[in-house]
Amino acid sequence: MRFPTLDRFRLYRKIAGVKSCQDSNIAIDEKPARGQPPLGRHFHTPKPGAGRLLFFVVLMNGIINFPGLIDLHVHLRDPGATHKEDFGSGTRAALAGGFTTVLAMPNTQPPLTDEPSLELAKSAAREKAHCDYGIYLGAGPDNRATAAPLAGRVCGLKLYLDQTYGPLRLENLGLLHAHVSNWPSNRPLAAHAEGRSLAAILFFAALLDRSVHICHVSRREEILLIRAAKEKGIRVTCEVAPHHLFLTDADAPRIGPGRSEVRPRLASANDQDALWKNLDVIDCFATDHAPHTLEEKDGPQPPPGYPGLETALALLLSAVSDGRLTHEELIDRMHTNPKRIFALPEQDETRIEVDLNEEWEVCAANLQSRCDWSPFEGMRLKGRVRRVVLRGQRVYADGQVLAAPGFGRDITER
Ligand code: NCD
Ligand code: ZN
Ligand code: ZN
Ligand code: ZN
Repeated sequence: MRFPTLDRFRLYRKIAGVKSCQDSNIAIDEKPARGQPPLGRHFHTPKPGAGRLLFFVVLMNGIINFPGLIDLHVHLRDPGATHKEDFGSGTRAALAGGFTTVLAMPNTQPPLTDEPSLELAKSAAREKAHCDYGIYLGAGPDNRATAAPLAGRVCGLKLYLDQTYGPLRLENLGLLHAHVSNWPSNRPLAAHAEGRSLAAILFFAALLDRSVHICHVSRREEILLIRAAKEKGIRVTCEVAPHHLFLTDADAPRIGPGRSEVRPRLASANDQDALWKNLDVIDCFATDHAPHTLEEKDGPQPPPGYPGLETALALLLSAVSDGRLTHEELIDRMHTNPKRIFALPEQDETRIEVDLNEEWEVCAANLQSRCDWSPFEGMRLKGRVRRVVLRGQRVYADGQVLAAPGFGRDITER
């Protein structure tokens, strides 16, 4: 991808007829201050005088260009539960939310633990995906020896250390140790590890001197433990989901008893506060898009999980408006860091155009996801994806997915 030079931006500024950075939509070589107004007032270059715009281009009227967002953590339910979502509906939701790459979790039916099950998911994705994708292999009781040979065909190995939706929980310490030791040390390892399980996986990362990525961190003691581990030089990265940044257990009654079920559970305001205070420890924002139908959520055994692909960016942009986050910090966590941590390929000629001024109300009936509900229903958000260009092709514009099914590429099959 080619980036405009500083000279080109001086030209834009001239065309816009503004005299100083202050009254311009464009300020060059300026870092936005916390608490600064949200509209496309500023514009970032990686280093003063670097002459290249690394992250995005501000256009004239509140439309801002971001790089294609990456969601490291989605459940697309394909194969096996395509009444909840499939590679088609899930990647349409991704594009509507500004994501051009999604990494799909293996807790499907059957779970993705071997070559035949992986092939089921891959053929569904090949046929249906509208955006680029990777697929995780799941660590199970029977694949400790057969997982590693599949490492080149998946985006990473997923370890479930705690009870959650699906059958993939690793109950046994020996099995966990075997999976962590056998998986190639240069390939990503991602773990659902809450509370003491977090301490267990961090210990293996230290013992085996390998990296591990912690999914959906939600509690104060967990983010502080990850901070301490990083300070010790343990190779750990982590993600936090928007629902843990914007909802607490106090929201559960409003959302409803079954609908509010999610793993990790909604935490306290104190936990939420710790996530915001330790933003520097959070490497990525990932949605943990986990669709279940309303019938299931309101039924006798509500499965845990929230859809999140189409609300994540607007929620996080609201935090930019509030001065809790900068655009750069957002792009680091939704593009740059995920790409680095999972060694994802560059998507040439790819960008999303976001209208920072558009206000909208979350109305699940209008979302692309098949599950037809949202824990953020009725919330008014500001900032919306207008257009998405993926590998030079316009794939989404004003509510319409334009990419054909099958346009999406598998990032590991290059
Ligand atoms: C996820 C699901 O439904 O697959 N549910 C959830 O509550 N997060 C599983 C998971 O990510 O743990
Ligand atoms: Zn999980
Ligand atoms: Zn998940
Ligand atoms: Zn900015």
